[in-house]
Amino acid sequence: MAFSFRGLEIDKIGVIGSGQIGPDIALYFTKVFHPHGVKVVVVDVVAEALERGRAKLEKKVNKGVETGAFKPEKAQAMLAGVEFTADYQALAGAQFVIEAATENLELKRKIFAQLEPLCAPGAVLASNSSHLEPEVIFEKLQDRSRALVIHYFFPAERNPAVEIIPGADTDGKLVHTLLSLYEHIGKVPIRVGSRYGYAVDPIFEGLFLASALCVQEGLGTVKEVDWLARRALGLTVGSFTAMNLTGGNPLTDHGLEMEGRHLNKWFHSPPLMKQAMESGRPWEVARRGEKVEVEEQRAEKIVAALRGAYFGLVGQIIDSGITNVADLEMILEIALDINPPFKTMNELGVGRALELVEQYAAAHPDFPVPECLRRQAAEGRPWRIDYVRRHDVGEVAWLRIRRPKVLNALNQEVFDQLAEHFQAIDADEKIQAAVI
Ligand SMILES: NC(=O)c1ccc[n+]([C@@H]2O[C@H](COP(=O)([O-])OP(=O)(O)OC[C@H]3O[C@@H](n4cnc5c(N)ncnc54)[C@H](O)[C@@H]3O)[C@@H](O)[C@H]2O)c1
Repeated sequence: MAFSFRGLEIDKIGVIGSGQIGPDIALYFTKVFHPHGVKVVVVDVVAEALERGRAKLEKKVNKGVETGAFKPEKAQAMLAGVEFTADYQALAGAQFVIEAATENLELKRKIFAQLEPLCAPGAVLASNSSHLEPEVIFEKLQDRSRALVIHYFFPAERNPAVEIIPGADTDGKLVHTLLSLYEHIGKVPIRVGSRYGYAVDPIFEGLFLASALCVQEGLGTVKEVDWLARRALGLTVGSFTAMNLTGGNPLTDHGLEMEGRHLNKWFHSPPLMKQAMESGRPWEVARRGEKVEVEEQRAEKIVAALRGAYFGLVGQIIDSGITNVADLEMILEIALDINPPFKTMNELGVGRALELVEQYAAAHPDFPVPECLRRQAAEGRPWRIDYVRRHDVGEVAWLRIRRPKVLNALNQEVFDQLAEHFQAIDADEKIQAAVI
């Protein structure tokens, strides 16, 4: 048996790396593909990592049985569909491989050089790198047309957000197929242009830096700033708690240093991070259920700094041209569980959002004020956020509602945008039919 989807025939999927995220990616694959008889093979070079990965996957599947998410027979089939091995040969003939090994360019290149002759001809070769551009990772591949970055978010089996980043040589048709495939299996993919860190991580890591700077500048303690990030940004957990949960210190440390080289000089790994890594201790954040009191004047300063940094970071991504307002709005809300930035700016007033960014930039001179935000404020209009997207295929216009956070629930804004699209379609002589 195999899973067939628009020309892709998959009966074996490889996941390289059984660290923090590899087993979670494998878990999702086996959940959706086991009914099609697809085998998921997880390869790591460290025996303990394989054992830990297998145990973690089993624990999550068993928890799913306890909570009623999976029937015991499904759980058994899911587990039987995954193999953990140190033997790369087990990947022979795989049609789809996601590499989630250590974030190191030379290592990733070595792994893909190994995979290219081993996998089925034309197999999709994807990296889950957090930062590296596909052109850089796949530079030495013979056939780059089927290679790209597919970037997941923690926890990968539950977080539906996925960034799909094609390189200059990636086949455009394959990119469309993969965007549809990921939607088909219940993920929320967006296409992002190739740039260091892509769309989301410079914001995620930038917010960590902004939080750390608040602490370093004496505005509050780690615990206070972490707590106030919820109020400032609507986060379920602050940046420091996120580091504790994901074991993200080394990745963020490296990401921030590299972003300083690739994006702008404001990005750097702060001394606070270096100290935390040296001590090896988790960040001191509020315990579950603990409330943190911060006097209002200081709290307001912290909230203003975090919002200024957030709106600025989001605008910098739009300025870079690698994504658009609607996709960034959607993916940030889903990937990071954070207030949607453009709707939040609209509620606050775009002029006020610009003021917050300007204040932040005045206190942090290397922090760029985005042009798109200046323009939007000058126009005196709220951001336009498209919740309904139109895509024409021949004589048919396809309208897609994209509000995954609320399962595409209809509201007045969606009705208004549908009405606008219907009028445009009505006036468009080449369109014979529309599908919602
Ligand atoms: N942790 C996250 O939440 C997260 C989120 C998105 C993307 N990523 C990216 O995913 C990748 C993996 O991240 P992680 O946090 O799981 O890292 P990790 O350090 O926890 O795990 C990496 C694993 O790769 C293994 N490995 C090293 N060399 C290998 C080789 N030649 N073949 C097979 N396995 C090898 C290591 O033994 C280790 O178990 C990185 O590129 C990271 O940037 C991680």
